[in-house]
Amino acid sequence: MIRRAILLGTGSALPARAVSNAELAQTVDTSDEWIVERTGIRNRYIAGDGETTASLAADAAQAALDAAGVAAQDIDLIILATATPDQTFPASATRVQAALGIDDCVAFDVAAVCSGFLYAMTVADSMICSGAARRALVIGAETFSRILDWEDRTTCVLFGDGAGAVVLGAEESADGARGILASKLHADGRHNGLLYVDGGPSTTQTVGKLRMKGQEVFRHAVVNLASVLNEVMATAGLSNSDIDWLVPHQANARILDATARKLKLSPDRVVVTVDRHANTSAASVPLALDCAVRDGRIKPGDLIVLEAMGGGFTWGACVLRV
Ligand code: UT7
Repeated sequence: MIRRAILLGTGSALPARAVSNAELAQTVDTSDEWIVERTGIRNRYIAGDGETTASLAADAAQAALDAAGVAAQDIDLIILATATPDQTFPASATRVQAALGIDDCVAFDVAAVCSGFLYAMTVADSMICSGAARRALVIGAETFSRILDWEDRTTCVLFGDGAGAVVLGAEESADGARGILASKLHADGRHNGLLYVDGGPSTTQTVGKLRMKGQEVFRHAVVNLASVLNEVMATAGLSNSDIDWLVPHQANARILDATARKLKLSPDRVVVTVDRHANTSAASVPLALDCAVRDGRIKPGDLIVLEAMGGGFTWGACVLRV
């Protein structure tokens, strides 16, 4: 028998306040034309008072539990990917645990910025396949609006807040046909200085603001994403033509187009939500996944590939049969 982590349900949550490019242009020296042309972004959601990474994560997790038909008490593992936790500690995952009313489980955060959800999925998959967990909540949640420098138009127009979650469950079958088939992660810390936050508890004792050399990140993103996707498909013994849906990290529509071109994937096989949500870092992949499941694009039996790249650099991909 083959034990795999299978997808039982998805969910997402967004702050109440949507902010269009036009609204942003009232306070930032930018324009709807520039943002749409360079990034494909038209809208983002910005967390208000009382909306935090953990509260958005808990709402997304509850939606995923409802979709999966799984009771919160049946969860034995919560992994929350975030670079914007509610507090330095405790882990925001434990705040989600408390909000969901789960008495006892394993709960921790993973920090791999925009690739965080891929890192969290890979850890959850390993724990499920090893028998260390049976039912896992894997969440990506961020409130990047709180670490943006609103005076820096080269970054502040690019990001938004939100959360996405999946419920994974252990399944044993003779053929292991569905579930997570392969995943692959990478990091290259030589590029720390291209995308980072200029503060932290151990250095400045401040939270800090996001800094990015956008063009250099862009260049690395297309190369790394195409290469890790080829790598994960080869590990799974599949080819790119087997992919029903690519669910990529939503940083920039031009990165999505360039990556799809490099991989010879039709653009209509790529889930795009960057226009609606902007870049929500670790939340972007599970948010996009939940949208495509709920609007009926992703159906049982589909082969989907998740991929992301972000600060560190970190990057990764995961192939699963729904
Ligand atoms: O999630 C982690 C991964 N992150 C990413 O993947 C982000 C990757 N990078 C990008 O998406 C793009 O590089 C950006 C969207 C950040 C920038 O696009 P670009 O086409 O590389 O623009 P640029 O940085 O070359 O800037 C072009 C011009 C500059 O003006 P000059 O020097 O040509 O006169 C900028 O000052 O656009 C100007 N500019 C803006 N203008 C209006 C930069 N930001 C803005 C803005 N509004 N918000």
